Amino acid sequence: MEPISLTNKEQNSSDKKSQSALIEQGAIPEHIAIIMDGNGRWAKSRGNIRSYGHKVGVDSVRDVTEACAQIGVKYLTLYAFSTENWGRPKMEVSALMRLLARSLRKEADNLNENNIKLETIGQIDRFPENCQQELREAIDLTKDNDRLQLCLALSYSGRWDITEAVKKLAQSAKEGDIDPNKIDDKMISDHLSTADVPDPELIIRTSGEYRISNFLLWQLAYSELYITETYWPDFRREELYKAIQSFQQRERRFGKVSENSQKKSSSLYVQELTP
Ligand code: IPE
Ligand code: IPE
Ligand code: MG
Repeated sequence: MEPISLTNKEQNSSDKKSQSALIEQGAIPEHIAIIMDGNGRWAKSRGNIRSYGHKVGVDSVRDVTEACAQIGVKYLTLYAFSTENWGRPKMEVSALMRLLARSLRKEADNLNENNIKLETIGQIDRFPENCQQELREAIDLTKDNDRLQLCLALSYSGRWDITEAVKKLAQSAKEGDIDPNKIDDKMISDHLSTADVPDPELIIRTSGEYRISNFLLWQLAYSELYITETYWPDFRREELYKAIQSFQQRERRFGKVSENSQKKSSSLYVQELTP
């Protein structure tokens, strides 16, 4: 598959049509989070080494990011490396680190030209110094952009995020700055690494695995889940549109009763009471 540049690619007319149709059909989620899985299996199925899957996966990141910016998604959070991924073979971890540093160097200008702001969540200080440096530079370069916020979850896990929030709250309580009885949902959300970002409405996982793998555990309380068999290196904008279409057809009830079923059940109730 041809890599698509954020700046050089002429958007084709059929893609423009797909995007307009999607926007007309329903609401575009403000925040989409993606568990980008299946790189290794994708490469293996082509007789290649796992790192090749990670490399081609960067093309998917570029394409999906660009499409999100174009259709008006405001936040895109990508699970790129979990706390548990440190347990992979050294060779794979270092290949991933090299790929991260190289991709950041290559893509930072593209992100900036497209008015995209880069952010991270996770234990960035566990990364090699050159990766941290590339991250700092790309974040600094794009800090004033406001079309889309692209957040990379790096050395991230949901339990780590919640643990850090608990530590901060416990410290504030110990120092007498907060009353433990006043701790509520919002206060916890405000102490997570995603404090300034709304919870994702839609979480996508590629490669057909039906699990969360320690991603945004607190934040996904009411997210809609979309799981596709497609491996991440094959997940491009058309697949993203399918996920959004599925999202648009769902009814989000947040534990309440839907308007329709509410009407239906109250009219049944009236019928039952009427002799
Ligand atoms: C996802 O693909 C990328 C990372 C977790 C870094 P995988 O590397 O997990 O690929 P599979 O799931 O083994 O195929
Ligand atoms: C989840 O994928 C983590 C990322 C996509 C970064 P994994 O491949 O690590 O998850 P498991 O091991 O299948 O649960
Ligand atoms: Mg995997």
